[in-house]
Amino acid sequence: MTNKTKITVVGSGYVGMSLSVLLAQHNDVVVLDVDASRVEKIINRQSTVADAEIEAFLADKELSLTATLDKRVAYSGADFVVVATPTDYDPSTNRFDTSTVDSVVSDAMELNTDALVIIKSTIPVGHTKSLQENHKTNRVIFSPEFLREGQALKDNLYPSRIIVGSQLTAGIAFADLLVEGAEKKDIETLFIRSTEAEAVKLYANTYLAMRVSFFNELDSYALAHELDAKGIINGVCLDERIGKGYNNPSFGYGGYCLPKDTKQLLANYENVPQALIQAIVSSNSTRKDVIADEIIKKNPEVVGFYRLVMKEGSDNFRSSAIQGVMKRIKAKGIKVVVYEPSFNEALFYGSKVIKSLDEFTSVSEIILANRYSEDLIEVKEKLFSRDIFGEN
Ligand SMILES: NC(=O)c1ccc[n+]([C@@H]2O[C@H](COP(=O)([O-])OP(=O)(O)OC[C@H]3O[C@@H](n4cnc5c(N)ncnc54)[C@H](O)[C@@H]3O)[C@@H](O)[C@H]2O)c1
Repeated sequence: MTNKTKITVVGSGYVGMSLSVLLAQHNDVVVLDVDASRVEKIINRQSTVADAEIEAFLADKELSLTATLDKRVAYSGADFVVVATPTDYDPSTNRFDTSTVDSVVSDAMELNTDALVIIKSTIPVGHTKSLQENHKTNRVIFSPEFLREGQALKDNLYPSRIIVGSQLTAGIAFADLLVEGAEKKDIETLFIRSTEAEAVKLYANTYLAMRVSFFNELDSYALAHELDAKGIINGVCLDERIGKGYNNPSFGYGGYCLPKDTKQLLANYENVPQALIQAIVSSNSTRKDVIADEIIKKNPEVVGFYRLVMKEGSDNFRSSAIQGVMKRIKAKGIKVVVYEPSFNEALFYGSKVIKSLDEFTSVSEIILANRYSEDLIEVKEKLFSRDIFGEN
């Protein structure tokens, strides 16, 4: 390693991997993870997540990037520590499980006396402030991450905005590092307090969930009354205040972030009156009921689920809406089969996973697909999808 700025990135999922590659163009980056196979991959210049830009950068760019399982090695001499570990929603406590973030912050505070610790993981509003108070420090700040899975690095090379929860010199220096790694010019950069920055992340995702829910409920109405949802949506979206895009009906919003972030924001309201945030959370469940009921009333023998992933191009199916529909249909005793090339087991929650597309389409009486694919062109008469615009 050289005398460049040393950055430790903790967690090598979508967020950690994307930021590591971005920052390793101009700084010495060490990735710390608890998963040995991920550490090995990074050392061997392989990506831990499916992402074309990350793979291309690892193959072609000169990067100062290494990885370790050893936290002492990772934190020693670091100027910045970026936290990108998971914060899953815990239904038993009704809030995010922040234990990985909390333990990383404690370790970093203990093993490094100077570094600025930047939390990129999504956390409850007010969490950074309580960490600052617990550790009696202003060295821990929050900076929201807005990347999308599948284009994680691209979204950091061309960020919609950079937001840093600090006006201190080190916070400004961190924003400069993100700008330096990016390719977009004139990036809108905002310095606000960490609590407001945490709120930005949760409100941005809840707004997106609200938009998805709105067009899904429009579609539920169209379905019930045999109306052309496409015509209605096109007409509605021609108003510039509403705008086109992000209006394609689906089986519900899903993926790792929107379901958990909306629930966390709702939990944050506690004693503050609200109706809309609860409605956004409930609407997603109602939408899955509507889709499942459409299928159940047809009384099929076997229902085929084409892909478990949330979106075309995704490599994982964390909290995908189609799984919620599947659960509801299975609860009625209807047989379910699954086609998911990225899943290598024989069974998915007790349902058969069929490797051959031909076999899958021939045994399925109805085929559900959250998003249309050319794979299904021959079996259009069996297909049930609400994908109107053929986009994510
Ligand atoms: N995935 C997204 O699109 C996205 C977008 C914005 C924000 N976020 C937020 O960023 C955070 C990370 O998301 P992700 O999708 O990158 O997660 P991920 O699950 O893909 O990856 C998390 C990584 O952290 C590692 N890890 C877990 N515990 C650890 C520990 N104690 N020490 C070191 N490493 C540890 C895991 O092994 C894994 O490699 C979450 O809070 C998420 O809400 C995610």
